[in-house]
Amino acid sequence: MIDVRLIAAIGRRGQLSLAGHLPWHEPEDLAWFRQQTLGGVVVMGFRTARIVGALPDRTVVPWLGQEPAAFLEDVARNHPGRTIWIAGGAKTYARFLPHVRRAIVTLIDYDGPADVWMPQLWETCSALPC
Ligand SMILES: NC(=O)c1ccc[n+]([C@@H]2O[C@H](COP(=O)([O-])OP(=O)(O)OC[C@H]3O[C@@H](n4cnc5c(N)ncnc54)[C@H](OP(=O)(O)O)[C@@H]3O)[C@@H](O)[C@H]2O)c1
Repeated sequence: MIDVRLIAAIGRRGQLSLAGHLPWHEPEDLAWFRQQTLGGVVVMGFRTARIVGALPDRTVVPWLGQEPAAFLEDVARNHPGRTIWIAGGAKTYARFLPHVRRAIVTLIDYDGPADVWMPQLWETCSALPC
């Protein structure tokens, strides 16, 4: 099974970004992202990859809308034994979620505006018990 992990930072209401950028200044979170993803393959959606560009000591593979399962198999074949990190944005998280085996989500103490939001990661039920 391919080791596919999701990594994201979200605000208090699921904010992901504003005007193309992270809405907060959190160097500690950027360091955490770097530490977690070092040596791995970082998959980013087209929009995010265009903003972020290359990352030292990691391989960035932009996702251009290919079917996720086949895309992941290709990436794993080209980079055997390396963890594949799904690193956003919203569309990319949503499409790859069924293939994700672990998610690392940092909650940032930010309650301001956003124009891109984190998709829901889990199912909810309307009445307990589920
Ligand atoms: N807080 C965090 O942890 C975090 C992490 C990563 C990214 N982000 C933020 O997420 C935002 C981007 O998320 P997103 O959902 O908008 O996009 P995304 O997931 O980065 O990229 C997917 C989008 O790229 C476009 N695209 C795909 N292939 C393309 C191609 N060949 N040519 C042109 N466009 C193509 C598509 O747009 P259409 O659907 O319109 O065709 C698709 O929806 C950024 O602002 C970034 O800052 C936040």
